[in-house]
Amino acid sequence: MRHLISPLDFSVEELDRLLRLANDIEQHPEKYAHACEGKILATCFYEPSTRTRLSFESAMLHLGGKVLGFSDAANSSASKGESVSDTIRVISEYADICAMRHPKEGAPLVASEKATIPVINAGDGGHQHPTQTLTDLLTIYSLKGRLDHLTIGLCGDLKFGRTVHSLIHALIRYPGIRFELISPEELRVPSNLHDEVLVRNNIPFREVVKLEDALPALDILYMTRVQRERFFNEEDYIRMKDFYILNKEKMELAPKDMLVLHPLPRVNEISVEVDDDPRAVYFKQARYGVYVRMALILTLLEIEV
Ligand code: CP
Repeated sequence: MRHLISPLDFSVEELDRLLRLANDIEQHPEKYAHACEGKILATCFYEPSTRTRLSFESAMLHLGGKVLGFSDAANSSASKGESVSDTIRVISEYADICAMRHPKEGAPLVASEKATIPVINAGDGGHQHPTQTLTDLLTIYSLKGRLDHLTIGLCGDLKFGRTVHSLIHALIRYPGIRFELISPEELRVPSNLHDEVLVRNNIPFREVVKLEDALPALDILYMTRVQRERFFNEEDYIRMKDFYILNKEKMELAPKDMLVLHPLPRVNEISVEVDDDPRAVYFKQARYGVYVRMALILTLLEIEV
């Protein structure tokens, strides 16, 4: 039985298979419409979510399966003090696969050690968000045609943004990847990611504060919001929240074939006037999230179509 806790749980070859399966699902959805009949997905979300929870549910429904779960820890027996370990033992009796989001780093890993069904990390604290990474990789692969030899700008809250951490881990396995890390000094990537992942693996990268300095060289611009819920101090959040605002004027500095991705939700960091730019693909990216989660469910349940 396999789980997905970290983006590195799949080898590059397995990831390629998963992305090709997601592309086939996009092209031929009817082939997969009954693949999960009789199967149940549990979504256990101890933290708020729109995209991740609903795209998982949409994925399972498109596969002909059923869904159950909770979207708020307050509506679950966690509010009475039940541990994640006990909860997943019970969920294992009710469902065939579980997607879990939790504010505590490592909670889905703990769940996977007690579960008798596959567990998927749907985001754990400021740590990782592997299914967002799968979504990001599928978006880049589908729209750029490759995952190698790309210059990727990661912009915003690189300290607390778990989607950024997971994406860096996943992309450094491909040749010719370089990063422009665009953030205020206080929101730079954590030192372990900087030293033990980027420096140790000789990945070319540059840390810059001004978005304008990085834009002309980018193949991909990955915007992120400042993670209010991870700040200890509201004043710091208010000072940082509008540090970057991508607008039409800045987009003029970017290459004509650059893609703008964002895991969403957006707050102010991309002006709505950018939404109509053909390079803005963040809503398309949300759709790819359904295809890749369909492919993931099939893979972890070992269902072949
Ligand atoms: N991208 C993402 O994780 O969005 P949600 O928090 O809405 O699930």
